[in-house]
Amino acid sequence: MLSAESATARAGRGGVMFSFDRRDFGPEFIFGVATAAYQIEGGQGDGRGPSIWDSFSATPGNVHNGDTGREACDHYRLWPQDLDLIRDGGFDAYRFSFAWPRLIPEGTGAVNPAGLDFYDRLIDGMLERGIKPYATLYHWDLPSALQDRGGWMNRDIAGWFADYATLVAEKFGDRLHATATINEPWCVAFLSHYLGVHAPGYRDLRAAARAMHHVLFAHGTAVDALRAAGAKNLGIVLNLEKSEPATDSEADRDAAGFGDALFNRWYLGGICKGQYPAELTEWLAPYLPEDYQRDMEVVSRPLDWLGINYYTRGLYKASSQPGRPVERVEGPLEKTDIGWEIYPQGLTDLLVRVSREYTRIPLYVTENGMAEVEGDDDPRRTRYYEDHLKAVLAARAEDADVRGYFAWSLLDNYEWAEGYAKRFGLVHVDYATQRRTPKSSYRAFQGLLHNTR
Ligand code: FCB
Repeated sequence: MLSAESATARAGRGGVMFSFDRRDFGPEFIFGVATAAYQIEGGQGDGRGPSIWDSFSATPGNVHNGDTGREACDHYRLWPQDLDLIRDGGFDAYRFSFAWPRLIPEGTGAVNPAGLDFYDRLIDGMLERGIKPYATLYHWDLPSALQDRGGWMNRDIAGWFADYATLVAEKFGDRLHATATINEPWCVAFLSHYLGVHAPGYRDLRAAARAMHHVLFAHGTAVDALRAAGAKNLGIVLNLEKSEPATDSEADRDAAGFGDALFNRWYLGGICKGQYPAELTEWLAPYLPEDYQRDMEVVSRPLDWLGINYYTRGLYKASSQPGRPVERVEGPLEKTDIGWEIYPQGLTDLLVRVSREYTRIPLYVTENGMAEVEGDDDPRRTRYYEDHLKAVLAARAEDADVRGYFAWSLLDNYEWAEGYAKRFGLVHVDYATQRRTPKSSYRAFQGLLHNTR
């Protein structure tokens, strides 16, 4: 371990620095940053079709301040300087997403040549700078034309998604270091079809049950399509939480178990074991697609790696309301600017649990980071990263095969229902001028990563 003093000297600048050295992670460990198309690209002319986030965000009451992704970080134009920031930070890899409606404006059928050109240049730009491209096919911007046909509630989405996956594999597959099908299926299904917080904003148990299955069936179908088109190194990105009981009572412990099934085990069990948790198949029985069991072999297609996004824990108590299975309560720990408890131990616990109970394929932390108040001096964020990177080391010491870590996010960006109010970036964005200013947390990564690649 280097002392904090020598790490600071190496970075050539004051401020909070990491206490460890990148060599503590081994020479092969990948450090990266992550973003998503709708949150940064803007550039909605140029042939891009409408997505469910365009209409959802244009509907009053859905998004803080009525913010939309129309301009976002104007990454569509400014991508060269954004890639320079990734390179200059010393990062090995960039996790980005393709916008389905930019490539196929109606979701199926005709391809937008300007969209192909954009991702061609972006991927070549990464390779020229020595940055490994980690692509995600779906980070929530479903083409509106497909929502009109039922979106994730319609089983046909598996075929639509597989065709889109094939296009990506054929055009870009040889240049991608890794490809994930779906980002955070819990959000795609439950948050967006039961809680109504994200597009398309449904609050309906049948809609949710169908989306919960179809999102994983579409994932497996796309894995087959990607493999058939020659794409390599395939995975999926799950958001996992550490589900814990609010008190030690049996009722609260049961509630945490149900929360764990809903948030974690549905997806881990489906993908790694071809099996959904019994308490959920019972609860959802009247609403699940008929014969969903027949799809489980496709749902659980072997993968090359598993991505885990981790931010916080979930604290549960038994529900006092009829029909509502569990309730989440606010916890007592220090919180980030978005109100999420800071809980690094949960990351160690999850990584160890996944590697012991679910899979031995390589794991990546594909997102981790915190919202902090605006400014470019963010020592609390550096500490958050310090503590979570140590949590990764602790998981590796317990034999979890974690091969990489991606910070969320490179830039302050469009934080979905929170609009531009919540800032997760290592780099500050002034939305009026689109000026980028590296924060002190970016400098801390620079200090960690530079000259040691
Ligand atoms: C994750 C999303 C990502 C970002 C972070 C804060 O759930 O994948 O797009 O919004 O949360």
